Amino acid sequence: MKITIHGSGYVGLVTGACLADVGHDVVCVDVDQIKIASLKQGNVPIHEPGLEDLIRYNLESGRLRFTSNPEEGVEHGLLQFIAVGTPPDEDGSADLTHVLKVARSIGQHMGDYRVIVNKSTVPVGTADRVHQAIHEVLEDRTETLDFDVCSNPEFLKEGAAIEDFSRGARIVVGSESERVQRLMRECYAPYSRQKDKLIFMDVRSAELTKYAANAMLATKISFINEIANLAESLGADIEQVRHGIGSDPRIGYHFIYPGCGYGGSCFPKDVKALARTAGEVGAPAQLLHAVEEVNEAQKSRLFDKLKQAMHGNLKGRTIALWGLAFKPNTDDMREAPSRTLMEQLWAEGARVQAYDPEASAECHRLYGERPDLCLSRQRDAALEGADALVICTEWKAFRSVDFEYIARTLNHPVIVDGRNLYSPEDVKRAGLDYYAIGRGDSLRPTGR
Ligand code: UDX
Repeated sequence: MKITIHGSGYVGLVTGACLADVGHDVVCVDVDQIKIASLKQGNVPIHEPGLEDLIRYNLESGRLRFTSNPEEGVEHGLLQFIAVGTPPDEDGSADLTHVLKVARSIGQHMGDYRVIVNKSTVPVGTADRVHQAIHEVLEDRTETLDFDVCSNPEFLKEGAAIEDFSRGARIVVGSESERVQRLMRECYAPYSRQKDKLIFMDVRSAELTKYAANAMLATKISFINEIANLAESLGADIEQVRHGIGSDPRIGYHFIYPGCGYGGSCFPKDVKALARTAGEVGAPAQLLHAVEEVNEAQKSRLFDKLKQAMHGNLKGRTIALWGLAFKPNTDDMREAPSRTLMEQLWAEGARVQAYDPEASAECHRLYGERPDLCLSRQRDAALEGADALVICTEWKAFRSVDFEYIARTLNHPVIVDGRNLYSPEDVKRAGLDYYAIGRGDSLRPTGR
């Protein structure tokens, strides 16, 4: 099938590369000429495991091409995916400027029937606006070309996007047109052979499905974080509680890991946007607001714990920080808990000595050179001369450590673990104080 993807960002590149890989003829369009020039050489501007190899392989096979010419893209694909960014406006609602610009460009250049497939995460009702925008351009052109707009939200996790695209639980398509359903079935047939993963619904329901999925997952996280905080006050251990509730299949083990709060490009943005949409239509969104509030508070807890552990005095201290990315296997620091912590530490006059396997360059891009930030090249180098250690991301490389070495190296024997990576007994045996999330007993100092 001939397919065009507008927007060569994270979602567009994964979608384009995966669809080319199963045999479709794909053209990816982006207005950023520099990005396109580099993609044509097989250089991928984002960090996603397996993506660069997939793009290079499919470029060589000729099934994947890149262009900055929208006309070429509109001419090519019967399916026109829109995968451009929808950054939050100042008021938290999704900015549709780029989506509607692509829609108008499709209206401008199309010469035949096209299906416009909305992949960007957009507010409910956007498909209608895309339809209207194309319709207006066609009217100006005095053309009466046929076209359809459908919604096909993505459910990709950073770090596992290719796996999620290829082996995701479901493929949601919002369109009641039989023609669109047939074409979308053909597009996704390679992924849906063993089990029919396509779920067809009306377009507004598909748009809401995306927000509802992310809001539900974010709710699970805020819920377990609230219970973790309660466990601390009650002297219970959240890890045992998590095991106890997760064994009920109605609850399940997924997305109930307590931590220092969710971050990333989706949960914070989507929960806010959905709450805002609810406000606009006069529907209650108490739960969504609470999910958001609990998360904001959770992001500050590492700082509070550290301050408590350091007897209220952080000025002039050097804090080792392991993990900058909002989660492992990505260099993304959008809304990362590490940022809240670093900014709080700097405001308090402390210095940060940070290590992350992937996100150092991103951290440097965000904060530049500053005397109170040192980016270490190695995990253990970040400990040297530091007063205490805080862990913000559960990278594999942090799971197995020599606690004796940490105890010897830190000026104060304190670990604040925002991801509950260790057994409190193991840490304490080395003479370290261990402050984790929701682990009642672990809050008590070793009593030296
Ligand atoms: C998420 C959704 O999973 C994906 O389906 C959607 O398309 C985009 O948003 P992503 O943002 O890449 O994907 O990350 P995810 O792995 O879901 O984690 C999000 C955040 O939640 C991370 O900060 C993570 O640390 C946190 N998290 C996740 C927890 O704190 N506890 C958990 O149990 C799970």
